[in-house]
Amino acid sequence: MAGSGLEGVVVAESRVSRIDGEAGTLEYGGYPIEELAEHTTFEEVAYLLWNGELPDEKQLALVRQRLANGYRLPDEVYQLIRATPPSAHPMAVLRTAISALGLYDPQAADMSREANVDKAIRLTAQFPTITAAIARIRRGKEPVSPRDDLGLAANLLYMLNGEVPGDREAQTMDVALILHAEHGFNASTFSARVTVATLADMHSALTSAIGTLKGPLHGGANERVMQMLEQIGEPSRAESWILDALERKEKIMGFGHRVYRTVDPRAPILRKLGDELGRSKWLEMSDRVREVMEREMEQRGKAIYPNVDFFSASVYDRLGVPMELFTNIFACARVTGWTAHVLEQLEDNRLIRPKAKYIGPGSRSVRPIAER
Ligand code: ACO
Repeated sequence: MAGSGLEGVVVAESRVSRIDGEAGTLEYGGYPIEELAEHTTFEEVAYLLWNGELPDEKQLALVRQRLANGYRLPDEVYQLIRATPPSAHPMAVLRTAISALGLYDPQAADMSREANVDKAIRLTAQFPTITAAIARIRRGKEPVSPRDDLGLAANLLYMLNGEVPGDREAQTMDVALILHAEHGFNASTFSARVTVATLADMHSALTSAIGTLKGPLHGGANERVMQMLEQIGEPSRAESWILDALERKEKIMGFGHRVYRTVDPRAPILRKLGDELGRSKWLEMSDRVREVMEREMEQRGKAIYPNVDFFSASVYDRLGVPMELFTNIFACARVTGWTAHVLEQLEDNRLIRPKAKYIGPGSRSVRPIAER
């Protein structure tokens, strides 16, 4: 029990996604992740997560329009981002900005399904605008206003880099967002559900979720992967670097997963995307790290393989995303999964309140302070 991390414990029923950790498969609403990555866009996947079905053309056009209507931020939130210290991590600024958005959202306290769907769409639209604004402001540049005619992935890259991305770059970001959109009862989704199960509002739930995603054992791992690649420096140094780190009993970022006992199905899709953008030093190094890790872990009898964060690092780097923003990009995708789970939790809500087995001292009496 101690330190079990709730491994394998089923805490609820959900229709949003299904993971088979032994087989290494992931489905959103019954659709394999490989097919969604190949044949749909992030906007279609967002609709699927919120509604349980893929949209038809009319429904997709409507959701695209509603997202575009939500891209803009209140001036107060830009001011808040400008006021944050440059030393603050972009995930801490995102967490603060989403919390602040709740102060200006006229529907913030409305807990009807209709209002919560409105907020899910609006927040999904606002995450990229905030993320890009954080990056621009800390580089001393003006934020780039969103363009209503661009899809969410293209708009994110446009607002980050100040120029409309090429089709391949926009499509790569789109697939990366699809792959990161949803993943069952992971730590951040669970914290969103715990928060909203108290009947706290959507913005509070997402603030909890962002704080949880930030940690290096969860979404923060993609940034740490890039730091690791930079420390390794050259593909030829990968083997000795990894062996030394394992000798020091360090966890290698981007490897291992609580649920998958085989390759995370999202990792090979990202690996292929990286290849399609053109070979890079980081990708070559990632391949080398993977070979060494799989060999070493097998020798140690542990089923540790690359997870979604491993190849996303080199892909984001190729798309011009600064390293400290990697986890924010993850959040820009996962907001759809979080909000889908918030909607599902509220359909049949019960306060989530487990208990702990007490292992402290037996019952005793308080002695006056002078006698202690
Ligand atoms: N590097 C080296 N050894 C590892 C790694 C790793 N990345 N991951 C697990 N192991 C080892 C553990 O030390 C443990 O060894 P032991 O049995 O000798 O103690 C064994 O493999 C089993 O792993 P657990 O610790 O049981 O794995 P757990 O389910 O607790 O943790 C976690 C999963 C947190 C993801 C872990 O693998 C890890 O820290 N990975 C690195 C961080 C990372 O990439 N996180 C992103 C996860 S995916 C996501 O959140 C989107």
